Amino acid sequence: MRLRWLLVGALVAMPAVASAQKAKTIDELAQMFDSSRCKSCHAEIYAQWEKSHHARPMMGVAGGLKDTPLAMKGATPFSPDDPSKATIATFPCFKCHLPQAVTHAEDSVAVEYAQALIAKDKAKIGKLQITCLVCHNEKAIVHRLSDGKPQPGVLYSSKEVASHPDKVFKSVKKSGIFKQSLMCGQCHGLGPNLEFENPVQCATLYGSYLHAYIPAGGTQTCQECHMKPINGQADHLIAPNWDDVPGVSKILQEALSLDVQTLGYEWLEKAKTHVPKVVVNTKINSTAGHRVPDG
Ligand code: HEC
Ligand code: HEC
Ligand code: HEC
Ligand code: HEC
Ligand code: HEC
Repeated sequence: MRLRWLLVGALVAMPAVASAQKAKTIDELAQMFDSSRCKSCHAEIYAQWEKSHHARPMMGVAGGLKDTPLAMKGATPFSPDDPSKATIATFPCFKCHLPQAVTHAEDSVAVEYAQALIAKDKAKIGKLQITCLVCHNEKAIVHRLSDGKPQPGVLYSSKEVASHPDKVFKSVKKSGIFKQSLMCGQCHGLGPNLEFENPVQCATLYGSYLHAYIPAGGTQTCQECHMKPINGQADHLIAPNWDDVPGVSKILQEALSLDVQTLGYEWLEKAKTHVPKVVVNTKINSTAGHRVPDG
């Protein structure tokens, strides 16, 4: 067991230094970022995360296999002639839905993924997750030239923990972004992703946050609204969870107000002809820190 943990630590720690260290299979990639042992000490956070969209980024709503068209010949400009010809570049979606695939996976992982999509192999695709290690290591540092890359065996969070009792991640360092919206903005999109040979657009909500909410006087961060502490610890469900319909209704009830004003009258179109008319003024106000819906 101990040996396996050491191996996981070493692999996660060296992002793409040599191709030999990249994952060749979906299992290897899942293993590199496996966070299951965090559960033994962070049970509540783990249980929240397990229900979150971050735990199922390749089949978020109702278990859909959203990337399937990319694996089908002719269905998108990215689609290969055959799933066996897929590469990491076939799936621009990895940038945000599975960033560790871009840095830590060989093209063979994309082939296996494309084949799994065609075979509708949900058990295999479900192993691909935005785990604790993706946020608390891989995506924990944004200014990599000045601050360096995330280090082996180190977790990052909003505060420092000099001695962390995990077998591989023996310390937690302070990262400047964990309390900032930028942490989330890395994946929640600014607008079209123009760096791809065919631009793709998905989430653009961080752009809306920066350019509409903040200039209009908004003061809160993503974390303040979406990770309000439960029992003193940041909520990792990061709601809404679209598969939990009552939960979503509750959030929407709190976030949206609907003001309706009506005026009924009769319009005298011509002598003796009264046409009933109604004027309805509706105003929907959202307290969200960005446009909704997004995408
Ligand atoms: C053996 C128990 C144990 C395991 C396993 C463990 N942790 Fe921890 N972790 C702790 C304890 C205890 C603290 C609190 C230390 C303190 O606050 O002084 C902590 C603190 C943290 C913090 C910093 C919290 C903060 O306040 O910012 C993070 C992040 C964290 N752990 C993530 C993880 C992740 C991710 C894993 C799995 C790779 C993990 N932990 C595995 C016990 C554990
Ligand atoms: C590594 C990239 C990444 C990071 C970092 C990230 N997210 Fe996400 N987030 C995603 C992806 C991808 C999804 C959608 C997964 C799916 O359902 O397909 C998602 C889903 C969500 C959802 C569920 C609602 C929805 O429409 O799917 C919320 C809310 C959310 N994220 C908020 C946050 C907040 C707040 C932060 C910062 C604390 C954050 N995210 C950080 C990638 C990320
Ligand atoms: C800029 C980052 C980014 C890129 C690139 C991206 N997505 Fe997303 N996607 C997200 C985030 C974040 C969410 C969830 C939050 C939201 O919708 O605002 C999401 C949500 C989704 C959803 C709805 C949730 C679900 O899983 O059913 C689908 C479908 C989706 N993306 C498909 C794709 C596909 C297909 C691609 C590639 C062609 C792609 N995305 C590329 C960030 C991205
Ligand atoms: C002022 C509080 C507030 C802030 C700040 C905020 N959100 Fe939200 N967010 C909400 C509320 C409330 C909803 C649900 C309401 C709704 O969907 O109408 C929501 C919905 C979402 C959704 C689902 C979008 C959809 O398509 O309906 C995502 C994803 C999300 N937020 C991510 C983020 C991220 C990332 C940030 C930071 C860049 C952020 N939020 C900042 C309050 C906030
Ligand atoms: C989408 C990114 C993301 C994922 C995935 C994620 N975290 Fe976090 N985590 C954060 C952010 C951001 C904070 C800081 C929130 C704040 O301070 O408001 C945080 C805070 C924490 C804390 C400190 C909580 C507190 O309030 O004292 C612990 C412990 C922690 N995370 C453990 C984990 C574990 C364990 C997992 C996996 C089960 C995990 N995280 C997955 C982004 C993430």
